[in-house]
Amino acid sequence: MIPMVDLKSQYHNLKEEIDRAVIEALESTHFILGPNVASFEKEAAAFLGVPHAVSCASGTDALHLAVLAAGIGAGDEVITTPFTFIATAEAICYAGAKPVFVDIDPRSFNINPDMIESAITPRTKAVIPVHLFGQPADLPAIRDICVRRDLLLIEDCAQSFGADINEVKTGATGSFGCFSFFPSKNLGCYGDGGMIACATEELAEKIKLLRNHGSRARYHHSVIGFNSRLDEIQAAILRVKLKRIDTFNRERKRVAHLYSELLRDIVETPFEDGIGTHIYHQYTLLSDRRDRIIARLAEKGISSAIYYPIPLHRQEVFKSSCAGISLPRAESVASKCISLPIYPEMPEESVRMVAEGVREALIG
Ligand SMILES: Cc1ncc(COP(=O)(O)O)c(C=O)c1O
Repeated sequence: MIPMVDLKSQYHNLKEEIDRAVIEALESTHFILGPNVASFEKEAAAFLGVPHAVSCASGTDALHLAVLAAGIGAGDEVITTPFTFIATAEAICYAGAKPVFVDIDPRSFNINPDMIESAITPRTKAVIPVHLFGQPADLPAIRDICVRRDLLLIEDCAQSFGADINEVKTGATGSFGCFSFFPSKNLGCYGDGGMIACATEELAEKIKLLRNHGSRARYHHSVIGFNSRLDEIQAAILRVKLKRIDTFNRERKRVAHLYSELLRDIVETPFEDGIGTHIYHQYTLLSDRRDRIIARLAEKGISSAIYYPIPLHRQEVFKSSCAGISLPRAESVASKCISLPIYPEMPEESVRMVAEGVREALIG
């Protein structure tokens, strides 16, 4: 049995340290916005090279709070990619704004910057690129458009903790960088969690206000906010894992490069566009015969997954707002993509077994 991610082996490798950190948090009985959250935010900001990092309850909330803190609301439009998890678009909709989907580069799977300008209208307020599967979107080009057209840049970094472009980490270019610590993320906690990297103190203060009931001082509320806080136990776990994130990402790359070496002669393996470093949150192939791959792997007890089978503009929820919109590259990729198991602790033997399964499916 080979799972998509093996959270158990990572936990067992770090068990002593994680158990100690959790027990210390329990013993302190300080559960909300305590010392672990404060330290994690400082450590994460230092790692990312950003002035401020403010944690919250999930990656979805990170995006939602960032969109609100950016002042985006009803009647506004936000440009984003159709090839992402629904949360990217949900955050825009929560604020009452409209997601405007721009097609992707079919090789990197990220939003195509060359197609952004023609989607800008007087109502456009921001662009939210997603660093999908751990490969940075073309931030230099996107930032250039945002600066010229006076748009905010909000990065969806849910799948890219630690990826960089010329040593600038994802999350450090936009006004906000939004992270998810969902357990299967490359930096994951043991529940839900999220964080917003903020470019200025003013923006960080807005996020802090929003995540905690619009309150700076207890029982004084200046805006309508939310209950969206990372808890101390999750922060304690994340502090243990943050110290290892570069190693985790390096090991993901090891797995990915071995897969590509074993498979590139028979199937379209992931394309590294060279704009930044790919940390392989997912390892995703393109194949017209993905059903055969899925079936053969399943016979061998190997998991696989389709991220994502339906691009957002084709989802039922956007049926009326996206009627008549065709984004052929996202549609084509969604019809052919298949992701293979990948995690830092994955043994070479397992990588070879998975690759063998793919070969069997494609060439018998
Ligand atoms: C690209 C992307 N954006 C946002 C999210 C939302 O994060 P969360 O599940 O922590 O709310 C996820 C993860 O699920 C994601 O993959």
